[in-house]
Amino acid sequence: MNILVINGPNLNILGKRDSSQYGSVTLPEIETKISEKARSLKVTVEFFQSNHEGGIIDYIQSATSDASGIIINPGALTHYGLSLRDALVDSNLPVVEVHLSNIHGREQFRRDSVMSSICIGQIAGLGWKGYIQGLESVVSHINSQEQ
Ligand code: DQA
Repeated sequence: MNILVINGPNLNILGKRDSSQYGSVTLPEIETKISEKARSLKVTVEFFQSNHEGGIIDYIQSATSDASGIIINPGALTHYGLSLRDALVDSNLPVVEVHLSNIHGREQFRRDSVMSSICIGQIAGLGWKGYIQGLESVVSHINSQEQ
């Protein structure tokens, strides 16, 4: 089973962003922790980050055929990225949405996600551990669908 782990705009500079919202762990460090969890779950993960909505869409279109599920932190695209939302729908893959911060306790514009209604679930506010829970959730969802 191969899971795509996608991060959107500005998540490449985690560690330098507001640590009270996003913590101090860098994206490569988070990816290492996800890889460790993936090994223990006996699945493979493929990482992608882009600051460009179109780049993420191109990646989803090219990687979908070799994947069973997606974990995505769309960054600010969460709140308005309708072409990214369409690409996720068109992938026909189960998607878990992850946010480091609790978007529901922040500015009004962050409280709405255009992604959440097409995802199997959303994890927000748990920091980098949300990605680990996202991986567990998508793998368990896929396993239960296969039974
Ligand atoms: C974020 C929340 C978004 O509102 C913000 O634009 C981000 C990160 C999070 O992980 O908490 O870039 O997705």
